[in-house]
Amino acid sequence: MNALADESVFSQIAHWNQAQELRAPRTKDIFNKNLEEALDIRRSQHSLITLRKRRDHIDFSSNDFLSLSSSGQLREAFLEELGRHPDFSLGSTGSRLLDGNHDYFEALEDEIAAFHGAERALIVNSGFEGNSAIFSAIPRPGDVVVFDELVHASVHEGMARCSAMVRQSFRHNCVDSLRDTLEMVHESQPLVQRGQRTVLIAVESVYSMEGDFCPLAELVEAAQEVFPKRNFQFIVDEAHTTGVVGEKGVGLVSSLGLQKEIAIRLHTFSKALGASGVRNMLINHARPITFTTAASFPTLAAVKSVYGLLASGKTEPSRLRLYDLIRLFYKEITGNPAYEEVRDEGIISIPMADDWESQTYLTHIVAVLTEPRHNYFLSLHLQLLRFWVFPVDPPAVPKGTSRVRVVFHANATEQQVIDLAEAIIEWAKEMLEIKQSGKEGTLPTAAQQVYKITSVTPRFDQFQ
Ligand SMILES: Cc1ncc(COP(=O)(O)O)c(C=O)c1O
Repeated sequence: MNALADESVFSQIAHWNQAQELRAPRTKDIFNKNLEEALDIRRSQHSLITLRKRRDHIDFSSNDFLSLSSSGQLREAFLEELGRHPDFSLGSTGSRLLDGNHDYFEALEDEIAAFHGAERALIVNSGFEGNSAIFSAIPRPGDVVVFDELVHASVHEGMARCSAMVRQSFRHNCVDSLRDTLEMVHESQPLVQRGQRTVLIAVESVYSMEGDFCPLAELVEAAQEVFPKRNFQFIVDEAHTTGVVGEKGVGLVSSLGLQKEIAIRLHTFSKALGASGVRNMLINHARPITFTTAASFPTLAAVKSVYGLLASGKTEPSRLRLYDLIRLFYKEITGNPAYEEVRDEGIISIPMADDWESQTYLTHIVAVLTEPRHNYFLSLHLQLLRFWVFPVDPPAVPKGTSRVRVVFHANATEQQVIDLAEAIIEWAKEMLEIKQSGKEGTLPTAAQQVYKITSVTPRFDQFQ
């Protein structure tokens, strides 16, 4: 495959590379110098983040899993919905607690709750605010929060402000680790042991950076064993399953029939949350809900349009196609004659790929792990081929697990998926050649191309 990108892709990458040049030494005023010094820490590792404009690229990165935005399907439904309410007002004019509430809001919440088989729903402005609200307001003094070590930053944001003094992580997706953690909580917390306080267990149905499912039914079973008085509750973040997992995209909890076992679910197509005591608690005590202006009518109309599409089954062809494309990717990459060698030599690792055929569920998020910092080289290689993907590093992921995060979309073509798999292997083969030649200071071709046109060339040892 020929690494030839159009000018705009190339210049954006070059702009990012140029931005890695240290600034503090040439900044005079103290206010800006201090800021630049903090940013230079990132620049010195060649990892300063810059904003890039979305161009005519092949999307293997965005959250538009069903391609509802890019296909225009959602826009069409949204415009129809607006047409049914020609007198809508643009601003919501106040917090939900003051002027921001109305019939349309509540009817939509009922619709969302019914779709997901939940008792009640509450719409908040974003998933981040949703988790912040849940985890700051729901845990009561004496309650304990137990969370998977890889839960989203927004859960930590909420927990940092919550009343639960004990907050304990368990190993990612490990049922035994959850059981051990719960037993430890049971032993050490007399109020919990007597059934007078609750243990809240936070998990995601699909983890945003790993792309793996949580073994929800087994986790619930383990909690039931340790707490026969049932003073535990699960809070499940369905950000990455809404619309794509289960029939019509109802999410993991509903597709497993576990609705009754789960206290709260967070869905981020709509940013909707379920259950009634919970709803009142959030309305009364969650600062991210109290102190912000409610969603405007156009936002609600967009949410309603999405749910209309999901409930009508119109998104099913896209959902099913998405899974066909993911299977095609795994088939192509694991079937490539060089795959096993580059994997065994540690050039790439795709944890979900090795037994993909025996997995009950596959997800649209694929982590391609590399040596630390080599994920930048792989991203450059793919971006120059116009595949839009991004490198992800600690602290967003655990130390030693730098990766390129690949996200599949329903409107990708089969050929694009085949080309992507081939491009990843092509890069891995080049890295293997560099490794085997003993010339470990050699940059791979795509990185050379980018660094050639800017003045900032990192030393290779920055990438070890
Ligand atoms: C697992 C998870 N929860 C919550 C969020 C926050 O959702 P939103 O983008 O709606 O704020 C995200 C998005 O990054 C996520 O990946």
